[in-house]
Amino acid sequence: MDSSASGASGGYDAVYAAWRRDPEAYWAEAARGIAWSEAPRRAFDPSLGAYGRWFPGGRLNTCHNALDRHVAAGHGDRPALIHDSPMTGKVETLTYARMLERTAKLAGALAALGVGAGDRVVVYMPMVPEAAIAMLACARLGAVHSVVFGGFAAAELAARIADAQPKVVVAASCGLEPGRVVAYKPLLDAAIAMSPHKPEACLILQRPERPCDLLPGRDRDFREAEATAQPHPCVPVEATDPLYILYTSGTTGKPKGIVRDTGGHAVALHHSMRLIYGLGAGDVFWTASDVGWVVGHSYIVYAPLLAGCTSVLYEGKPVGTPDAGAFWRVCAQHGVKVLFTAPTALRAIKKEDADGKLLRQHDLSKLEALYLAGERCDPDTAIWAGKLLGKPVVDHWWQTETGWPITAGFRGPGLFPLKPGSGGKPSPGWDIVALDEDGKEKPRGEIGNLAARLPLPPAALPTLWNADDRFRESYLRRYPGFYDTSDAGMVDEEGYVWVMGRTDDIINVAGHRLSTGAMEEVLSSHKDVAECAVIGVKDALKGQAPMGLVVLKAGVQRAEAEIAAELVALVRERIGPVAAFKDARVVPRLPKTRSGKILRATMRSIADGENYAVPPTIDDPAILEEMEGALRP
Ligand code: COA
Ligand code: AMP
Repeated sequence: MDSSASGASGGYDAVYAAWRRDPEAYWAEAARGIAWSEAPRRAFDPSLGAYGRWFPGGRLNTCHNALDRHVAAGHGDRPALIHDSPMTGKVETLTYARMLERTAKLAGALAALGVGAGDRVVVYMPMVPEAAIAMLACARLGAVHSVVFGGFAAAELAARIADAQPKVVVAASCGLEPGRVVAYKPLLDAAIAMSPHKPEACLILQRPERPCDLLPGRDRDFREAEATAQPHPCVPVEATDPLYILYTSGTTGKPKGIVRDTGGHAVALHHSMRLIYGLGAGDVFWTASDVGWVVGHSYIVYAPLLAGCTSVLYEGKPVGTPDAGAFWRVCAQHGVKVLFTAPTALRAIKKEDADGKLLRQHDLSKLEALYLAGERCDPDTAIWAGKLLGKPVVDHWWQTETGWPITAGFRGPGLFPLKPGSGGKPSPGWDIVALDEDGKEKPRGEIGNLAARLPLPPAALPTLWNADDRFRESYLRRYPGFYDTSDAGMVDEEGYVWVMGRTDDIINVAGHRLSTGAMEEVLSSHKDVAECAVIGVKDALKGQAPMGLVVLKAGVQRAEAEIAAELVALVRERIGPVAAFKDARVVPRLPKTRSGKILRATMRSIADGENYAVPPTIDDPAILEEMEGALRP
């Protein structure tokens, strides 16, 4: 396999052409990488679901494919997971045999609590091996997990518990952030109190940094339950059965439950390891993300284990744990071959170690490539990293909805020349076009709304949890025959895709996807606020940062700074620290169109110091001067 920048795209072109020629045959071939207890009737049935379903009739178990089959093939001693935690100062390696043993027992413990195929289990855990074990134990039972990121507040956790209706919640007593211990248990208790649905039981992993009290009758000790359980065998499920639900920000405060099906997910993720990252059994892959995000689901847990790789699970930050050399230390210590992270992490490292003094203290000879996703990567950062590392830096574009990269550079067939600022070329299965407002395809090189021609490939969402209509309305209605990505961008003359940013009110803060609509709902609930707008403004480190603009109710006389501080605290309390909402400003009024629509895009341009055209529909153009004073630093 050629893993260097080959200067030609012949290898990729042939793979993509093979998919185009016969998509069903392409995916049927990829499906041979997975062990099925019953082979699918066919790769794709267009008559099922919203746009067709993958591998109908097939039966399989994802945990079997991720663990059991590797052990059965004699690879039980191979490291499956390396937990590297600068937060606790510990490194623990779990072999495939040990992962299997622990997962089978935890599955037994969950089964003893009544969890069976189709039941939901919410997992609310920090970056510990037990998070991956809990996910795999659910998969083993055919149960549907829903992992909730630790940086969310109780209300967000409650919304997910209410929607997924889990039988059991698996949580830890605490998470560890630099300088503070995040007590998870009070957040969990508050969330359960808020949710109309109550789980029957909670399995709590006690961490020595902050153990918690257990509620008699409801809470069980994770380790005790695991130790005393009978190992549970794998339960095969239909390929079209859900493996997990992952909630992500939509345009309202109500998160969307992205559904991942079992068969398509296993096939596409297994296939992607060789095709995109150029990795196979025994290779060490490190995705520096969090299991609470899709990137963590796919490339910390499922894909590396499906492919028999060793995956690094890192509980730390790119800087401050202890310094900006942390990523390079982990790569050197564990022999990481491919590292995958968010551009914001690189920007944080660049800020503290621009000339690479800390980087050069580590032996990075085993590292072959760096992959980036989660937000647009500014070309400067990509070029900086490429120069310093002397390895390919591959930006690739994806979404929680898609489960794996829509576009990428492909180490399997050999990398084509990379263009910093572009997300690469479409993965097989993805036919990407830029459309105008009427759904007409834009010429190459022109910016439009990026859309994927249906059907979506395996592993992309078949629907939203209990919300088929919302799925159609959110993704399929605007452009018949296409999936609307809600990203703006273009496809250039050579087929590279350039992603410029969201066309809806979703913003990307430090690689975390957040809804400004959800933040507006919180600000509006403050007693002194008459109306408000939240916009994402440019931020040198985090890419974007939220800024809240509020108009106070008539007669409110309190100090503006006091109200602003309350608003910041309110967003942290309701959405969580991850919202990184630190900037609330009181303004006399908001710019609007004559029909009353708030001109958020215009405000964003003003805040970012960009030139802007005065919208012809604006109610009162004089207000824009007022906004310049209020928005510019
Ligand atoms: N549990 C609890 N709180 C969390 C958390 C978690 N799992 N993750 C983040 N937070 C908190 C942080 O402690 C911070 O709190 P603070 O306001 O009290 O400081 C807040 O949420 C905002 O976090 P973040 O935006 O991540 O900023 P940061 O200053 O802590 O770190 C970076 C900045 C760049 C180091 C960090 O954002 C990073 O590593 N980003 C990479 C993101 C990533 O991997 N994304 C996945 C997509 S691929
Ligand atoms: P999430 O669902 O959290 O993965 O966020 C998805 C969104 O992040 C996409 O819709 C894009 O706006 C953005 N995104 C992810 N990867 C990239 C990338 N490589 N380049 C540009 N934007 C990206």
